[in-house]
Amino acid sequence: MSNHYRPTWAEINLDHLWHNYITAEKEVPNKNVIPVIKANAYGHGAKEVFKFLYKNGIRFFAVSLLEEALELKEIYQDAQILMMGPLLEKDLEVVSKNQIEFTIYDTPIYEAVLGSKLSLTCHIKVDSGMSRYGMVEPEKIMDAVESLQARKNIDLKGIYTHFATSNENEVFYNLQLNRFKEIVNMMKVKPRMIHISNSSSTFKYEKNYDFTTHVRLGISLYGLSLDQPKPNIIPVMSLKSKVVQIKTLHPGDSVGYGASYQAKSDERIAILPIGYADGFIRGNKTGSIEINQKEYKIVGIICMDACFVKVDDQVKIGDTATIFGGMITIDHVAKRLKTINYEVVTSISYRVPRVMVEGVKK
Ligand SMILES: Cc1ncc(COP(=O)(O)O)c(C=O)c1O
Repeated sequence: MSNHYRPTWAEINLDHLWHNYITAEKEVPNKNVIPVIKANAYGHGAKEVFKFLYKNGIRFFAVSLLEEALELKEIYQDAQILMMGPLLEKDLEVVSKNQIEFTIYDTPIYEAVLGSKLSLTCHIKVDSGMSRYGMVEPEKIMDAVESLQARKNIDLKGIYTHFATSNENEVFYNLQLNRFKEIVNMMKVKPRMIHISNSSSTFKYEKNYDFTTHVRLGISLYGLSLDQPKPNIIPVMSLKSKVVQIKTLHPGDSVGYGASYQAKSDERIAILPIGYADGFIRGNKTGSIEINQKEYKIVGIICMDACFVKVDDQVKIGDTATIFGGMITIDHVAKRLKTINYEVVTSISYRVPRVMVEGVKK
């Protein structure tokens, strides 16, 4: 158990994480799997996930922000960290000093890099159709590749793109793929890293490609996917709390803000110390929570620090409540909130301690 006081926590099963990593690795033999640990490792705890993977021999990681990269570099200096988000010219010195690999995603940063005397390691990002970060025109990209490759102080280590529709629209996926492939074919000297696949593309398509070297595994590292059928992966996070108080209500008594729920008969209401400030947002009020292998309905409005569950006589103070990660899955919660599993896990806030568990039976 980590050093925390509140009886609400997110359990992070590192055995499951490793299972997922190995499953992806087996899927793409001869290629390297880059764990994407941006956004606090999709809410799972970036530092702990990073340390765990590093101890298992992984040395290359991807994040979004410079802050995220710096936090990891402080732990293991020799880990290679690719920053996929936008870098500002003013921060070139910081990435150089800390040996952080970054992304050239547009002309201004390209020109700043070209004009710099700093020692820099970078990857060019090609916008092959998503219209997010990345350079678009093939001629400009080739120009950038050749100019950067000619510089002694610059290591153009990789080129990559990102798919907008790997889990849904094959036609658009192939359009992006072909645009990117054309650029790679035009390159006289290929960089050491060529990477295109996210989780979905890793499991669905990557084995067909002989021109790539790496995949960037995000959501499936954490045991989640938007694909059906899902690959052989296991969710890593379960969100738990404990019953801290039980109220007996009589007919007409109300619960919570707005007095929106009123008891129709004598009822038992369990109070759980988890609320919207923990990322258990108000939209969850239509759902249920598992206590002792049984589902109980949430009642009333979810507060900042607490929520209410209508329970029976079997529930007592101190019982563990599983918000998700048991009978109620992260995908159930995503469906309830009309969103995707990515948003459910990344929304669990900093207030919720992440408790790493290893050696737990699946
Ligand atoms: C550039 C880039 N590569 C890889 C990933 C990982 O994607 P996924 O979580 O779908 O595996 C992301 C996530 O959004 C990303 O932005």
